[in-house]
Amino acid sequence: MKHIARSLILLLAVPLVGALLVACGGNDEEENAAPAAANEEAAATEAEAEAVVAEEEEEEPFQPRRGCAACHTLREPDTGKYTLPYEAHVRTEARGLRHPDVALDGTSMARTDEVALETCMGCHAPGAAPVLSMRQIVHPAHAFSEHFGDDRGNCFSCHTVSPDGTFEVISGSLEINEKGVPAPPTAE
Ligand code: HEC
Ligand code: HEC
Ligand code: HEC
Repeated sequence: MKHIARSLILLLAVPLVGALLVACGGNDEEENAAPAAANEEAAATEAEAEAVVAEEEEEEPFQPRRGCAACHTLREPDTGKYTLPYEAHVRTEARGLRHPDVALDGTSMARTDEVALETCMGCHAPGAAPVLSMRQIVHPAHAFSEHFGDDRGNCFSCHTVSPDGTFEVISGSLEINEKGVPAPPTAE
């Protein structure tokens, strides 16, 4: 029995302190002491490793984002990912068409330009031009998007609900806490 137990301890300890065990092999007393110490050491190493993993996971807690500009910013100066004009050009090209490079008010809409939603609305407000309205485009495109889902995206990624029940669009980037809630009004 004792022998089996000792073999087990040895088996567990071998991968980590094989070299140490070989060195202590001759003496019975030392042999007993070494695996015990080795086991403790192994357990400590394991706990340390777990702590490191937990710490790494904790380092980046989920932070919601609200407002077009919270997500559609220039991340890659080469490609224009993921500005609003970048999305416009890519999705228009997917239909074999070309998106205008300049808005009605002269604002440049090159892929790398960080353009405000208001500029897009000059043509994509309902009835503004014979094109799809922004709501027709963005509602399904986000609702069915895997990436938007990964971001835990939902109505409140783009909207606040006004006191009269209107879904107002957040075009900029709303300052929010880790729950997505904006700061309370400051006392005057
Ligand atoms: C939480 C992040 C997030 C926010 C906020 C957000 N978007 Fe997006 N948007 C995405 C992602 C992710 C995609 C890519 C969808 C895909 O291809 O799977 C996308 C795609 C798009 C597209 C391409 C549509 C298409 O047909 O594929 C447009 C246009 C767009 N967004 C506009 C907007 C506008 C306008 C707003 C604000 C009213 C907004 N987005 C807010 C993440 C966001
Ligand atoms: C000057 C008018 C104008 C402005 C401003 C404009 N667009 Fe467009 N947009 C168009 C036209 C026109 C098309 C359709 C392309 C065509 O028919 O040749 C289009 C198509 C799109 C499409 C493709 C939708 C689809 O699935 O077919 C997206 C996405 C889009 N625009 C997003 C945007 C965004 C985002 C902005 C602001 C950065 C913007 N547009 C600003 C005129 C405009
Ligand atoms: C990607 C951003 C985005 C997401 C996500 C989104 N919306 Fe919208 N929504 C818009 C935009 C842009 C408009 C058009 C605003 C305009 O035309 O001025 C709009 C318009 C609307 C309107 C019309 C508001 C009005 O006064 O005309 C309603 C209602 C609405 N959204 C509800 C929702 C609901 C419900 C969800 C979730 C299921 C949702 N939206 C998710 C961007 C978004």
